[in-house]
Amino acid sequence: MLKGKWCLVTGGNRGIGQAIALAFAKEGASLILVARDEAALAGAAQACTAAGAGEVATHTVDLADPIAVDGLARDALARCGTVDVLVNNAAYSVRANSPLEGDPDEFDKMIAINLAAPMRLTRLLAPKMVEQQDGVIINMSSVYGQQPSAGWGAYSATKHGLKGWSHSCAATLRPHNVKVMCVHPGCVYTDTARKKVEEDPKLEEVVKTHLMSPEDVAETCMLAFRTSSRCCPLDVTVLETPPVQPHYP
Ligand SMILES: NC(=O)c1ccc[n+]([C@@H]2O[C@H](COP(=O)([O-])OP(=O)(O)OC[C@H]3O[C@@H](n4cnc5c(N)ncnc54)[C@H](OP(=O)(O)O)[C@@H]3O)[C@@H](O)[C@H]2O)c1
Repeated sequence: MLKGKWCLVTGGNRGIGQAIALAFAKEGASLILVARDEAALAGAAQACTAAGAGEVATHTVDLADPIAVDGLARDALARCGTVDVLVNNAAYSVRANSPLEGDPDEFDKMIAINLAAPMRLTRLLAPKMVEQQDGVIINMSSVYGQQPSAGWGAYSATKHGLKGWSHSCAATLRPHNVKVMCVHPGCVYTDTARKKVEEDPKLEEVVKTHLMSPEDVAETCMLAFRTSSRCCPLDVTVLETPPVQPHYP
């Protein structure tokens, strides 16, 4: 389904981003994987090649740095002409980022990585998609991008921003045959959950039985390709079932 397409996935070295990259690889895509951890990027690239990807390139980039983001977009366009699929998946969060708790510098970092970088990458890569009248942009939001959470104010704000940006992008780009999708996952079993289990081993059972897998979210992203060119699944919320609350902090 994705043979001959170039797909750029931020945060493609682990968690949900790696699962998305692998799902694309199985469909024959060529990939540009972006993150900071070079060793993890190399491991993910190897797994994607084994899964059936075309070419796989990795970029070690800190998405908090706008100059580095510009460089990434420039390098990506130089490599592949047009990035056919952009997945803005990488994000940063810290516990306690409310009006009463947390470091405002951390709020700025969340805005830079979770919102400003996706906006910048889209601005730099979407014109080529419009030129070829074809493309897909997937933005990874959260249920907190639909319903803000008390203790996660800054994170919720970045994800609401990403949702607003996605809707505006869809309004601008759908006339040019570019699909824009904003995915809002509930709880997914990635490193955050693993850390919580390390801190409190009693959580292991509930995490294992209730949380979605990164592959569940990757499969949701495949909707953009499994639907016809006349269909743009703009907002898609995926929830763990049964709900993990109130058993999970
Ligand atoms: N897990 C969940 O329960 C859940 C629920 C709702 C929404 N989400 C969303 O789903 C997405 C992926 O979540 P996840 O749980 O898979 O995350 P994760 O396991 O924490 O991975 C985060 C990814 O982002 C990359 N990243 C972080 N900061 C970066 C930076 N400054 N520059 C470049 N890359 C950076 C990380 O790579 P490096 O560290 O190597 O840079 C890593 O690949 C995020 O947008 C998250 O908000 C997750």
